Amino acid sequence: MLDRPQSTAEAPILDERRLAQAMSGHHLIGGRFVPPKSGKTFAVVNPATGEEIGRAAEGDAADVDAAVQVADAAQKEWAKMASRKRGALVSQCAALLREHVEELARLIALETGKALRTESRVEANTIADIFEFFGGLGGELKGETVPFAPNVLSVTIREPLGVVGAIIPWNVPMLLMALKVAPALVAGNAVVVKSAEEAPLTVLRVCELVNRILPPGIYNMLSGFGPECGAPLVAHPKVRKVTFTGSVEVGRIVSKAAAEKLIPVTLELGGKSPMLVFADCDFEKTVAGALTSMRFTRQGQSCTAASRIYVERPIFQRFVDAMAERVDAMVMGDPLDEKTDIGTIISKEQFGKVQKYIDQGKATAGADGRACSAMPSDPALKKGLFIRPHIFTNLPDDSPLVQEEIFGPVTCIFPFDEVEEVLAKANGTEYGLAASVWTNNLKVGMELAHRLEAGLVQLNQNLVVQANLSYGGVKSSGLGKEASLEAMLEHFMHKKTIMVNYA
Ligand code: NAI
Ligand code: MG
Repeated sequence: MLDRPQSTAEAPILDERRLAQAMSGHHLIGGRFVPPKSGKTFAVVNPATGEEIGRAAEGDAADVDAAVQVADAAQKEWAKMASRKRGALVSQCAALLREHVEELARLIALETGKALRTESRVEANTIADIFEFFGGLGGELKGETVPFAPNVLSVTIREPLGVVGAIIPWNVPMLLMALKVAPALVAGNAVVVKSAEEAPLTVLRVCELVNRILPPGIYNMLSGFGPECGAPLVAHPKVRKVTFTGSVEVGRIVSKAAAEKLIPVTLELGGKSPMLVFADCDFEKTVAGALTSMRFTRQGQSCTAASRIYVERPIFQRFVDAMAERVDAMVMGDPLDEKTDIGTIISKEQFGKVQKYIDQGKATAGADGRACSAMPSDPALKKGLFIRPHIFTNLPDDSPLVQEEIFGPVTCIFPFDEVEEVLAKANGTEYGLAASVWTNNLKVGMELAHRLEAGLVQLNQNLVVQANLSYGGVKSSGLGKEASLEAMLEHFMHKKTIMVNYA
């Protein structure tokens, strides 16, 4: 019956180097691994050692066309399936992904330098959760009845959009992909994903696993570079929706290309998320919360990282010292070592970018930059892209470190005196993704929750995106929402009105 992909093995592969090799050199189209039409591949590098761990297919417009044509044909059949049955298949994918958490965690740690215990395993578990959540929503694709006139039944029904093009980044590639693919599929679309050039292998494995359960052609995966492979995917006439996570700069390019075709687009872009700490907060919980908020275990490579921390003056210095002390206690090292808290930066390019901000901060008159934790001593890691977490104080508000997304382990802490003053600063960047407020005064906290310009505001916690929470930014941080039932209904389906005149 269905043509299954040539899966490399049925059981999880816990040898991450072998799995990286097995995932090399191919796209996944129509349920099968296929080589790139050009025959070209590019290196995938372990950022902890600099070694080449595999090679990814270098996709171009010809591969995009092949994938989209296959997806378009498969989507028509997929959309005919009862939506709860589609959901049930997606739920089965969740169960299979759970069985493979450990293998996926090991491979993503190898590929991206994210520590196994603190990050990689968490991400692998979360994708299973996301598939499980959306798998349960197949019965929720409901429309409305609309009062129109006597003897006229007017209803809306929801229909899938067709082929969805999904472009994903490298920081949490499995998770950000799952947030797009799982709802798109349950809604009855087919998907063609373009992975990030820095992290193409683990997401390909996820796609391969899921293709053991789904009919071929509805979930396809291409690897390649942005302009050569991402741009033709956005431009392809049969792609009827684009969902993108990445930089503001590329978000604008994708949005313009989508506008040319008049297709809907969802954009999850950058952030410069403020954390507001009041003197009446639970001090220890908030210091611990600052470490989580800053995503130091992900080397700060998060769009919701609390990269600006405003602390009420009476506790400012104590807070800075306590935070630095805690970051000092975090262990930087081999991402695959269970003892490691902090791994590496993803690539030389990002390493250079983050280092430049640190140098700029250090060169700023009056500013203090505190380097925390310690470089790993293992000689095997001497080429690793490790950057010590930095905590800056006394930076001017208009410093690039305060205004721009660094996407590295660098945060800036400021004292404040007045609520209005701190609110103006918190809202004073082009971004509006996330914010957190730490206080035991619920009145102040709730007032700020309303007035902060952000898609997600949390009081006394700062979690990463979770299934079932509407997630997405305002201002330059993006367009549209992900992760919730509403996101699936509004961003992966359209409404059709049907009127029946029985007069
Ligand atoms: P990027 O925005 O260049 O890459 C994201 C994805 O877009 C990749 O798959 C890439 O191949 C693709 N892409 C690039 N150019 C394209 C084009 N013309 N058409 C279609 N697709 C294209 O991000 P990059 O260069 O990896 O990181 C740069 C900065 O972006 C980071 O320092 C960070 O500030 C931000 N970023 C934000 C992320 C988020 O989660 N919101 C994730 C990754 C990066
Ligand atoms: Mg780029």
